[in-house]
Amino acid sequence: MAKYLVQKKAPLYGEVEISGSKNAVLPLMAAALLAGESCEIMSVPNLRDVEVMCALLKSLGAVVVENYEKNQISIATPADVAHEAPYELVKKMRASVLVMGPLLAKTGKARVPLPGGCAIGARPINLHLKGFQALGATVEKQHGFIEVSAAKLKGADVYLDFPSVGATENIMMAAVLAEGTSVIENVAQEPEIVDLANFLNKMGAKIKGAGTDTIKIEGVKSLKSCKHNVIPDRIETGTFMVAAAVTRGNVLIKNALPNHVKPVIAKLRECGVIIEFDDENILVRADERPLISTDIKTLPYPGFPTDMQPQFMALLTTVKGSAVVMETVFENRFMHVAELNQMGAGIQTEGRYALLQGERLLQGARVIATDLRAGAALVLAGLVAEGTTEISEVYHIERGYANLVDKLRNLGASISLSTNP
Ligand code: EPU
Repeated sequence: MAKYLVQKKAPLYGEVEISGSKNAVLPLMAAALLAGESCEIMSVPNLRDVEVMCALLKSLGAVVVENYEKNQISIATPADVAHEAPYELVKKMRASVLVMGPLLAKTGKARVPLPGGCAIGARPINLHLKGFQALGATVEKQHGFIEVSAAKLKGADVYLDFPSVGATENIMMAAVLAEGTSVIENVAQEPEIVDLANFLNKMGAKIKGAGTDTIKIEGVKSLKSCKHNVIPDRIETGTFMVAAAVTRGNVLIKNALPNHVKPVIAKLRECGVIIEFDDENILVRADERPLISTDIKTLPYPGFPTDMQPQFMALLTTVKGSAVVMETVFENRFMHVAELNQMGAGIQTEGRYALLQGERLLQGARVIATDLRAGAALVLAGLVAEGTTEISEVYHIERGYANLVDKLRNLGASISLSTNP
């Protein structure tokens, strides 16, 4: 099993280039199923989750050409695309459920295994299904599968009880080919939603309001191919910002959109980190003054991202003062706490709250990456822990960070991939 071996070295210093966004490219790839001809997606990150989505699209009959050297993928979908997603792929990646909306819109049917819970929570898809039903689809659950079908989808008003990212994306992708107008309220406002709307609009869809809490979609008869550049990954950006801070380093982060990481910038500044930016670059300077603590509450965008909570906790264990971290998005996203505590973090949790003491001297230990962002937090903690941190189950980390080891090494970190048992 592959492991990362991380050792404390000098503060990180230099430049790093951010890859395309995982959580933007996956829905774009699913949306490509809606086009008649081949769609080209550029700035695609080289990630395991992208490979799984390629395999899923191929299993449905799409012709997918992957060129990771150029970070491009082209996807051509035949008219007789299949409508059933294989269990083996859906179980590898929950985002597989994003093919439901496009398949329902294109073929009138989608059959997907129930994705089940994962380390960070139960993650039901009731809101996705509520949206499909509002558009006129019937939903059946049988033998561990969910089947949605509709002779013809009709535009409708949908209200989401929670601004779910996946439900917003799935319902948008179903509604673009529905007859008439749909208004979806209390939708997610994440930049990935805006990127998907831009992609669909390039294909000929009529979507307005993406990035606000209400999206209006006028259904069209068909969609055509398009070319699109994926937005930079705001969570990879935030992770490198925190990496610079935790090592008290000085890092220029390129291909990063400051507007997408406002809460991370605000919170790092509260800790005493100096941050400067222009349109596409963020300079993080943590080598000037001692850092202090701040409290964190995760929220849907534009609030502080749950996907940055574990990494921020790694930082907060090292700064002066205690902190409270509240996780409101996922009910079980403190799996990294037990692992950070193995390294001497001394964090206590109670329900959705974690109490951190600060100024802990972390020590290298054998720890497990229980999920993607938890794994990233352990890497960051390992960069400042005395001795060697051995992180196992790093396939979780490789699901979402392109070339993490090389990028950190270029900044002066001591981190290597070990495949010895
Ligand atoms: N929820 C429901 N019912 C639904 C859908 C969601 O109750 O039908 C709940 C979830 O259980 C969760 C909350 O709503 O408690 C938020 O879930 P959401 O649907 O917004 O998340 P998602 O679409 O499953 C995406 C990202 C996650 C990220 C969340 C929140 C992708 C592929 N995944 O997941 O990314 O944490 O939004 O921002 O876009 C990651 O990259 O590490 C990651 C987990």
